[in-house]
Amino acid sequence: MPQIIRDPKFDSTLDVLRQGYTFLYDRSRKFDSDIFQIRLMGMKAICLHGPEAAELFYDPEYFIRKGAIPRRVQTTLMGVDAIQTRDNGEHRCRKELFMSLMTPESRQRLMGLLAKEWQRYAQKWEQIEQVVLFNEVQEILCRAACAWAGVPLQDEEVPTRAREFGNMVDGFGGVGPRHWRGKQARIRGEKWMRGIIRAIRAGELQPTVDTAAYKVAWHREPDGKLLDVQMAAIELMNAVRPIVAIATYITFAAVALHEYSPYRQRLRNSSEDYAELFVQEVRRYFPFTPFVGAIVRDDFTWHDFHFPKGTMVLLDVYGANRDERWWQDPEVFWPDRFRHWQDNAYDFIPQGGGDFLTGHRCAGEWITIEVMKQAVHFLNDGITYDVPAQDLRYDLTRMPTLPASGFLMTRVHRTG
Ligand code: HEM
Repeated sequence: MPQIIRDPKFDSTLDVLRQGYTFLYDRSRKFDSDIFQIRLMGMKAICLHGPEAAELFYDPEYFIRKGAIPRRVQTTLMGVDAIQTRDNGEHRCRKELFMSLMTPESRQRLMGLLAKEWQRYAQKWEQIEQVVLFNEVQEILCRAACAWAGVPLQDEEVPTRAREFGNMVDGFGGVGPRHWRGKQARIRGEKWMRGIIRAIRAGELQPTVDTAAYKVAWHREPDGKLLDVQMAAIELMNAVRPIVAIATYITFAAVALHEYSPYRQRLRNSSEDYAELFVQEVRRYFPFTPFVGAIVRDDFTWHDFHFPKGTMVLLDVYGANRDERWWQDPEVFWPDRFRHWQDNAYDFIPQGGGDFLTGHRCAGEWITIEVMKQAVHFLNDGITYDVPAQDLRYDLTRMPTLPASGFLMTRVHRTG
């Protein structure tokens, strides 16, 4: 039986944090292998790369998620013991809840709310000298996501809540103050959401039946019980926070419109849906999720490699988008590559792969794509603006990353 190549380094935890996005793919190239082994936090971790490995990783027969997500990520990004850590029937039941929020009608409702917010904010931008797009888009998304989810939000709360949703995301790869900020944001956010769940259950708050707040508050687990208040709060936040996180992709999309401006004309051609190709390329080209993790359910063998029960397995997400075996000239921003892409659950996995219901693929992928398309159209045609000199570079050693300036715009005017 062949041995999985081992990184001779005793432990790579610090290297992962220091090197960031490129860590796994660099090792994969160095070892010239789509499978290799490292040690993380003192434990053995098998690292996988490429579509075939992704197909294995997303087969729930072989992997579980319980124990796969470090506590530091759960206490900032997604909440402790949330859907991301669940397996089998429990996961399926929770995932059905999330997918029930993703119907075309529900997504359309979100898009309608967002369209109004883009207009409202553009009107504000006309009055101010300089706009930091990332911060503004977080607010736009926060307002629309809360309204969509049936979560009451006062005008004066918006800047703080939007920033705190952002801090939860920003905290997952950070150490020290960044991690602490993420944790504090989560503590405050969960308290807020617990209040909402309690108010709904007490009949003091009556969101409509199609909202996340209603569905989560009244969701029943496979044993027939309601979620406890804390878990319901976490899952309600899991429906809102990731929508605010789309601000990162929208900021990268603004960079792409600026740096690859010839595509702006292509986006105006109404005879094709070029925005679809454009946002797919934004999700491929720019970094967001570095990798995902799982635990081997039971001993098995794959391509003669042995996977012992209980071993941590990491799937490279960032590197999957940069490998020339699957992407021609991966370092070139070229939306047309998606013209011939056959929708495939394993070769393009910026938000995870496999099946939505039986696996852990991102519940919000359709929403993400639609929200990004709307944003791209708005930035391209809904307003005009100047892009002053600024630092648009993003640091691949920082997870998650963002253009340093947050994308500054001046002299904003609505076109309509
Ligand atoms: C799971 C990325 C937006 C809800 C995930 C996963 C990733 C991801 C990588 C984990 C896949 C895995 O564990 O294998 C992203 C990115 C987004 C985004 C980059 C864009 C900003 C959204 C949105 C929603 C959402 C808009 C909901 C409104 C979820 C949920 C899960 C998840 C509920 C857990 C799924 C499960 O464990 O079965 N996302 N996501 N995400 N995402 Fe997203």
